This record gives sequence, C-alpha cells and structure tokens, in this order.
Amino acid sequence: MSLTDLGAALLRRLDPEQAHRLAIRGLALAPLPRPPADDPILRTDLAGLDLPNPVGLAAGLDKNGEALRGLSRLGFGFVECGSVTPRPQPGNPQPRLFRLGEDRAVINRMGFNNAGLDAFAARLDRRPAGVVVGANLGANKDTEDKAADYVAGLERLAGRASYFTVNISSPNTPGLRALQGREQLDDLLGRIDAARPASGPARVPVFLKIAPDLIADEIGMIVEASLAHRIDGLIVSNTTLERPETLRSPQAHETGGLSGAPIRPFAEKALRAAAEAANGCLPLIAVGGIDSGAEAYARIRLGASAVQLYSALIYEGPGLVARIKRDLAARLRADGFSTLSQAIGAGR
Ligand SMILES: Cc1cc2nc3c(=O)[nH]c(=O)nc-3n(C[C@H](O)[C@H](O)[C@H](O)COP(=O)(O)O)c2cc1C
Repeated sequence: MSLTDLGAALLRRLDPEQAHRLAIRGLALAPLPRPPADDPILRTDLAGLDLPNPVGLAAGLDKNGEALRGLSRLGFGFVECGSVTPRPQPGNPQPRLFRLGEDRAVINRMGFNNAGLDAFAARLDRRPAGVVVGANLGANKDTEDKAADYVAGLERLAGRASYFTVNISSPNTPGLRALQGREQLDDLLGRIDAARPASGPARVPVFLKIAPDLIADEIGMIVEASLAHRIDGLIVSNTTLERPETLRSPQAHETGGLSGAPIRPFAEKALRAAAEAANGCLPLIAVGGIDSGAEAYARIRLGASAVQLYSALIYEGPGLVARIKRDLAARLRADGFSTLSQAIGAGR
C-alpha cells in the first residue's frame, strides 16, 4: 500500500467532512512527485483538449481549486474544480456528507458550499502549468435568474480555465435541475453562447453536466439543444435522487445525491441514451460509479471520450488512478486497438 493510499484508509475512519478537509489540506501541502509519463495509447482528444489520459477528477472534491497541483500529481488526465457560485455561500447545515460503506457509495447534500468566484479566480491564476483544469460553474441558492450566474462565472473566469462545465444537475440547490427543461435550457444555453468569445485562445470548450434521472427523450432534447447552442460536450452524469432497494447502509435514506457503485446502472443508462442521440456529433464524458479499468473501458466503448470519478477514490485511495490507467491500456491492446479513440463507441 502506498503512503497516499494509507492516508486514504486512515481518513475513512474520521467524520466524512473532516476527512475531506484534511485530504484537501494534505494534497495542497504534500510535495508529491510528478507521476510517470502516461502510456501513449491512453492519449485522447476531448472536444479539442489534448489529454494525456482519459481519467479525470469529477467536480466537488476540490470546490475552491485549492489542491490542483497535488490532484494533478495523482495521475489524472484532467482535473475539474468547483462547483463555484458567483458569491461565496456556506451550503447546507452539517451533517451533509455521508459514507455508505456497505454500498461503496456516498450521499451528499452539500449545497454548493464554496468561497465564490473572486477566490476561485485567484486560485486558477496559480494553477500548475501543463495541466488540463476545468472550472465547474454553479448558481447561488438565492439567485432568481440562475442563468445569469453561469454567465457571470464564464465571464469572470475567462482565460483562466482549460474548459468550463455548466452544472445544472446538482440536486441540492432548489430549482437548479429545472434548467434541464426545454424552455429554460434554450434560454440558458443561448445566453452562454452569446457570452463566449467567437474564436481565439479564450474560446475553450463548454460542457453541460446532466442528471442520471432523466428519461431518454429528455436526454435526446438536451443533446439537440446542446448542438443548436454550440455546447462542446455532455458530462453524464451527476448524482441521483434514486435510492435502489439494494442499498444496505443505515444512512441510505438521508436526503441528497447518491454517488458511487450503486449509481452505475443509472449513469450507464443515461450515457447510452446520450450516445444514441449524439451519434458521434457531441463528445461525452462518463461519470458515476467508475472504480476500475473495466468500468472505464465499458463506458468508453459505449461512446465516452473520457471518464471522471470521485466516490471510488474515497474507498480505493488515490492509487486507483494509476490502476485504472494500467488496466485500461491492457484492455485496449488485448482488443487490438492502437489508440483510445478507436475504442470510443466501439461497443454500441
Ligand atoms: C461530496 C460530493 C460533492 C459533489 N459536488 C459536486 C459539485 O459541486 N458539482 C458537480 O458538478 N458535481 C458534484 N458532485 C458529483 C460528482 O462530480 C459526480 O458527478 C458524482 O459523484 C458521480 O460520480 P462518482 O460515482 O464517481 O462519485 C459531488 C459528489 C460528491 C460525492
């Protein structure tokens, strides 16, 4: 067991939110060595972003961009920080983060606790060079015109992130998921399109992050609207409001979004629907219950250009990133692929 994995095992014995704070502090301060260069077979293009490997960190772990260097040293091909809202906000009262150990899952109702755009912009200014860093944008709880908050995020952080994610799928901000409906979505995406530079280096990809609780028709509509408004890709998916009957942990009925192993079927179903509707015209990033090379490979074969993970890190430790990459490279070779892009959608 590596030192970082041992640290993760110790953190699992603490209160989840305290453990999270310590992990961020440790990653921000520890002088971790640069990871070995990635196997060239893992190199991939994601909406024009050149990724050394397709395994990314999902949003929510580093909400304020405090530990970008340490996180990149764990071997991720890209690191997404946020969600950030224009103004700082405390989020929901504690406790609001629950480990469902028996289910390898997490429930959170954090409610976008974060330090706001000014602090976030300053952190991005000090981001490590040569690392693909995404900024995940959210909306303040008390903002009436939610779309305005995403536009404010894009404008304040212009030139500071490798890409942006418009997160309209967190279940812990009232009204946020309603932005996935046709009328509100057209308004939001139209305003985002208008706020982006038409060309040049400041025009970076903008992804839309959706919920796993949508039906195929809704996902089809979102793909259509995304293409019409020049969104560059979909992140599928956020946490679920579902509570599968298989959950065994005593905390399974806490309010909030469920993530980790039990959301796999929901995230996978949403990915299948998105891949069908996108038909290769809109890059997809798969998230939700990814905890192995086999799972990452399966999502890539379903049509994802890249994957992200969060919950599995809590249970497996940061050594998981290197294990997924090693296994993924072996699976690609075993199936006769010479590049990752050949495998994208190969199993549809
Ligand atoms: C504690 C926690 C906080 C999260 N916060 C955010 C967030 O701020 N913004 C966001 O887009 N997703 C957030 N997520 C969702 C994750 O990015 C991811 O979509 C989800 O957890 C599914 O992936 P996983 O099963 O690998 O964890 C959060 C997840 C967890 C567990």
